Amino acid sequence: MGDVRWWVRAGGAAPADLAGNIVVFGVAESAWLKVLGVKTKGFDMSKLLHLEASPRKERSASIFVARAFIESYRAAHPADEVETWDLWAESLPEFDGETVNAKYQILHGLEHSSQQASAWQAVTDVFKRFNSADKYLLSVPMWNFGIPYKLKHLIDVITQPGLAFSFSPDTGYTGLVTGKPAAVIYTRGGEYSTNEQVRGLDFQKPYLETLLGFVGFLDIRSVVVEPTLGGPGDVDRVKSVAAEEAKRLAEAF
Ligand SMILES: Cc1cc2nc3c(=O)[nH]c(=O)nc-3n(C[C@H](O)[C@H](O)[C@H](O)COP(=O)(O)O)c2cc1C
Repeated sequence: MGDVRWWVRAGGAAPADLAGNIVVFGVAESAWLKVLGVKTKGFDMSKLLHLEASPRKERSASIFVARAFIESYRAAHPADEVETWDLWAESLPEFDGETVNAKYQILHGLEHSSQQASAWQAVTDVFKRFNSADKYLLSVPMWNFGIPYKLKHLIDVITQPGLAFSFSPDTGYTGLVTGKPAAVIYTRGGEYSTNEQVRGLDFQKPYLETLLGFVGFLDIRSVVVEPTLGGPGDVDRVKSVAAEEAKRLAEAF
């Protein structure tokens, strides 16, 4: 039997300040639940949001390492919520037409038309979903030296003035996604980090670190999984070393 958790709503007998969600967590043993604890949402629970950027699912090295991270994270934080956002499963709003016009209206300090306001609402909804987490896990393959376009699409939708960052002529740009850690798992077919000649071709890790820093992340931890294209034995070894590193990271995340 596995880990279980139930969400219950505090009833009339509960103190008023506990009248939110309560989670009971424990281990199911045959027909019984061994209760390990009870926590109240909003007081001591966190939400980890996993952004899954590989479409390769069971064959994916980044998802393999992310799953090891999540397994260890759940063991260390049994009451926390973990949400995986598969960027290949859902469509995001296109960033064109009135949506891109709406962004420029904000940048120029101008009002939105009604079409721009409704286009901007769709952007705000995506940002709110992203921003609802307390901690982030990103599993990211290298694609053509950068990142998969589905992740870039999300970045282009959520990296917005007034949402992810602010600007003032006096202080410049300020990231608004603050006080949250991010762990990023980078997979690549080749080997970049140890090879001086090709290191400059890595536009995956430096780009994501720049972007996350721009929107406010100060605590960015990483696991680099490379090379993932090679003999099966070598690749298995690379993946399992990375999975162990990810597990250690998750315990203290
Ligand atoms: C469209 C595409 C482009 C790729 N571009 C690169 C690249 O520029 N450099 C590299 O080392 N590997 C590249 N690869 C290989 C992947 O980075 C590698 O297989 C990685 O393990 C993929 O992560 P995943 O297993 O989690 O999907 C590419 C793979 C695909 C599908």
